Amino acid sequence: MTDLPLPAVRTVADLRAAVRGWRQAGERVAFVPTMGYLHEGHLSLVKLGKQRAQRVVASVFVNPTQFAPGEDFEAYPRDEARDAALLASAGCDLLYAPTVEEMYPQGFATTVWVAEVSAPLDGIARPTHFAGVATVVTKLLMQCLPDVAIFGKKDFQQLLVIKRLARDLDLPVEIVGGPTLRAADGLALSSRNAYLSATERPVAAKLNEALRAAAAALKDGATVEEAEAEGRATLEAAGFARIDYFEVRDADDLQRLGPGPLVGPGRLFAAAVLGKTRLIDNWPV
Ligand code: PAJ
Repeated sequence: MTDLPLPAVRTVADLRAAVRGWRQAGERVAFVPTMGYLHEGHLSLVKLGKQRAQRVVASVFVNPTQFAPGEDFEAYPRDEARDAALLASAGCDLLYAPTVEEMYPQGFATTVWVAEVSAPLDGIARPTHFAGVATVVTKLLMQCLPDVAIFGKKDFQQLLVIKRLARDLDLPVEIVGGPTLRAADGLALSSRNAYLSATERPVAAKLNEALRAAAAALKDGATVEEAEAEGRATLEAAGFARIDYFEVRDADDLQRLGPGPLVGPGRLFAAAVLGKTRLIDNWPV
């Protein structure tokens, strides 16, 4: 892997050796797990890591176990050389890019399942997804053993699942959530935005627009039912083929809020399909 513009390793042993060296020199280590095809959102997490630690490790691993059969595992965009160049430019110290065989050797049999926060929202739309995420993130954290690990609020439910597993399993790592980076029209940056056609791209921004409109309506006293119905109607009218959810929930435990007007803070969550692209986003309220 000497042709890449930053140090890179593919095995747990090599990753541990690099991190151990830094630790022995008294340096703190931050970790940013990704599935690659990086964008400014990922790089913002690397930069956040750089503020929290002397060294930043980023992983690129398209994790097969968090995709269900028929989802986009094979089609998921991959470009290691580009990712490595972007990581180097963001100040990343080490790329960890394991193979599927390194992560899941013959006979691998363990699943990490986080109850409660994995159940609603994407847990209904993608019933096996969070078991795959929780298992691979537990492995990645144990492999790297960082002081701090950074995840995006773009995947807010995923962040809650990871915070819960770190707490429940006493993992000695601080889990930090970074802000969502967006395009000028509000669309959250995502590797999957690469699937959007030129005509779909402007429509995709309606997802964030609908969330912000619903947040404003709730603030003005609309009921939870009204705000959610209005959000769904906006997305249907914009041409989204399927709306998996458009819901207000508690930002800590994801319990349903309402009926009636919102008392206290919550978070709006939406997932919808445009053409062949499934988009998710969330917004505080
Ligand atoms: P991936 O979708 O590549 O995202 C990697 C990290 O970048 C996640 O923490 C995600 O929340 C964050 N991220 C994505 N888009 C962002 C944006 N627009 N602004 C800020 N952060 C953003 O999430 C995964 O990979 C995987 O599930 C993973 C955690 C790596 C486990 O396989």
